[in-house]
Amino acid sequence: MGTSFTDFENRKKDHIRLALDESTQSLVNSGFSKIKLNHQALPEFNFSDVSLKVKLLGHDFSSPHFVSSMTAGHENSFGINLNLAKSASQSQWLMAVGSQRRELTDTKAGEEWKKIKSEVPDLKLVSNIGILELLSHTTAEVIKLTENLGAIGLFVHLNPLQELFQNNPDVNFAGALKAIESLVKQSPVPVLVKEVGFGINKDLASKLFEMGVKVVDVSGNGGTHWGQLEALRQSKDSLIFKSSDAFYDWGLSCIDCLLSMQDQTLFHQVWASGGVRNGVDSAKCLALGARAVGIAQPLMKAAVESQEHTLQVMQQFDYQLKVAMFCSGVKKCEDFLHQKVWYGTNN
Ligand SMILES: Cc1cc2nc3c(=O)[nH]c(=O)nc-3n(C[C@H](O)[C@H](O)[C@H](O)COP(=O)(O)O)c2cc1C
Repeated sequence: MGTSFTDFENRKKDHIRLALDESTQSLVNSGFSKIKLNHQALPEFNFSDVSLKVKLLGHDFSSPHFVSSMTAGHENSFGINLNLAKSASQSQWLMAVGSQRRELTDTKAGEEWKKIKSEVPDLKLVSNIGILELLSHTTAEVIKLTENLGAIGLFVHLNPLQELFQNNPDVNFAGALKAIESLVKQSPVPVLVKEVGFGINKDLASKLFEMGVKVVDVSGNGGTHWGQLEALRQSKDSLIFKSSDAFYDWGLSCIDCLLSMQDQTLFHQVWASGGVRNGVDSAKCLALGARAVGIAQPLMKAAVESQEHTLQVMQQFDYQLKVAMFCSGVKKCEDFLHQKVWYGTNN
């Protein structure tokens, strides 16, 4: 798409720097306070029997938490991804990698993942590519990305607002559904579709599931605001920068997406992410029928510091989720699908 190597490096580095700046965290209520879990004063089982084990994409994991797609293919990404990868492996979490766009044009870019895989061989990874890359490359080229990674699935991210505020001169999503459908037909691994923080509505989710998409990760608003983040990369007198404030509450929250998909969650793999900031948020997502919960910004914050800190953050998410499950009387993640343990509030 005509971006130079230096532009790419600078953009990816800016993304990390700005994602860690509180000003790019959404100002809207992420919707988690709208949901409360029923406190169960007498959970009649042993806390040590609470199990976070789940099966995702046909593989066993020790937690429904996963590392949401973040970064790849630039100078600083190896260290960050190694911290994420080692911690995900120790925690037995699934890890989704950041956009593999660079690998489509630079075969050496895949070396990063080869090195990480050799250091952390048991890690389970999900590939990632943007919808515009899917539209501008052959399906075979995109599938090759999953082979390079040994991935167990392939995320396609949908990001209209982000692409526009990136000042991309060519934002043409025409034919996107067909491209996803043809990818689903040809991909040897399950295809997953996600947003990057503005949510996926129920109607689109239905179409995606109908065409065989395995997972819809709603990635709602309330967490990292990719409109704000991209606008901050533009000059202060630019049209984009001056327009961006109007989009401060754009999109659907993770909770609103899950609430609207209540008739789908039992039959389909709806995953949750976007603004998940602790294990109680995660418990609310699971209570609303999500099968897995993704975390991005809090893990990036930890991974730029150290592997130890990344692991601690993951352990805290898991511990908080376990406590929330015990205090709601839920022993296993799958029990959330059959036990109604939440109620709505007016917050
Ligand atoms: C530094 C950073 C880089 C990201 N890069 C990607 C990406 O390459 N592909 C993608 O699908 N999502 C990407 N995301 C979006 C996240 O996967 C997630 O959908 C979004 O940030 C909302 O989650 P959060 O509120 O926990 O940050 C990125 C997020 C962060 C923080």
